[in-house]
Amino acid sequence: MARSETQVGIVGAGPAGLMLSHWLHLYGIHSIVLEAKTRQHCEERIRAGVLEQGSVDMLRSTGLGSRLDREGMRHEGIELGLNRRRYRIPLSELTGGKAITVYGQQEVIKDLIARRLADRGDLRFECGEVSVHGIGGPRPSLRVARDGAEDEIHCDFIAGCDGFHGICRPSIPQGALTEYESAFPFAWLGILAQAAPSRDELLYMHHERGFALYSMRSPSLTRLYLQCRPNEDVDLWSDERTWNELHTRLGCADGWRPTEGKILQKGITGMRSLVIEPMQFGRLFLAGDAAHIVPPTGAKGMNLAMADVYVLAQALRAHYQDNSTAQLEQYSSLCLRRVWKAQRFSTWMTMLLHRLEDASPFERRRQLAELDYVTSSRAAAASLAENYVGLAMEL
Ligand code: APR
Ligand code: PHB
Repeated sequence: MARSETQVGIVGAGPAGLMLSHWLHLYGIHSIVLEAKTRQHCEERIRAGVLEQGSVDMLRSTGLGSRLDREGMRHEGIELGLNRRRYRIPLSELTGGKAITVYGQQEVIKDLIARRLADRGDLRFECGEVSVHGIGGPRPSLRVARDGAEDEIHCDFIAGCDGFHGICRPSIPQGALTEYESAFPFAWLGILAQAAPSRDELLYMHHERGFALYSMRSPSLTRLYLQCRPNEDVDLWSDERTWNELHTRLGCADGWRPTEGKILQKGITGMRSLVIEPMQFGRLFLAGDAAHIVPPTGAKGMNLAMADVYVLAQALRAHYQDNSTAQLEQYSSLCLRRVWKAQRFSTWMTMLLHRLEDASPFERRRQLAELDYVTSSRAAAASLAENYVGLAMEL
């Protein structure tokens, strides 16, 4: 058995794990990142794409802004659609100049991996089966089993950044955590199309046949979504059927409809809400999707991951530099305040925009009134904008 040591053992090379490792390096704290998949898999997987203002500021202030500033698409507004009409929410005007930036999660991942490797970071891809040990005690460890051999890494702390399907959360003793969960009776069919975006901003469309979202990834790639059934079979969606439905739901009274292009990727995105409390057990800290899942309508997933590890990095710095554990003790409660507000917003956006199959006629009328209100009241639009560009990061 090979043994090694690190200050912080990190499981998972998603936005949470890599950004944490980068922060820790800037603070002179050693970490090892263990990732089950290949580097190529991590860099190519199509995931989220909207960065809040605070996430952009974080990437810039930690030296990761150069390609983001060149290739990221800054959006100062979004559009909501109702009855084939578009209503613009002027995000920047309503938030004192804040904006969102469209930059694929896999681009953030590429930048982070390149930077960690340039800084001689210890990233271990395809690392085999990972398990965590001794998290309730003073010296936890990670074990990595591969090809019949086992490596052991002794750590001061472990960060569980291994996403929704990871092993860190299930390693915490039963009864120590409470799971708060809520399911939605629909999912999204998402496509990536080789087509130049024909709108400048994202369009969230409420339609009687179901919600549709017009988004993008680059000057030549459009990203589109359709509300579908929770267990939708993606094979039932031929390219022709997908485009027809996108035209029906997104098409506007002024004649605009999405430009078609070759469909490069098609998949189903589930919709659920989950929060784990607390986000810590002993010396194991959970961050990102390992601790919480939000429905994608609020575009919060990647941003919550970034906010968690910001709090964790500051707390670990206080521990190592100032010998203070107060921030580590507050990690979970501080993160959860933001997480619950993101859940509130994401649920609200979801219920505002989707077709609610089983809703009573009263509930449908109420939903339309809510859409009418948010598209006609500056106060309501300002609340949407404040949440969409991201609440301030608090410590
Ligand atoms: N051992 C090692 N690595 C693992 C294991 C394991 N047992 N299980 C999962 N992983 C890896 C995954 O392969 C993935 O690369 O952990 C990483 C988790 O990354 P993400 O799922 O991207 O989670 P996170 O970093 O929290 O970022 C949240 O991802 O799902 C999107 O919309 C979500 O944008 C949000 C973001
Ligand atoms: C995306 O571009 O993938 C995207 C944009 C906004 C969302 C969700 C996903 O709310």
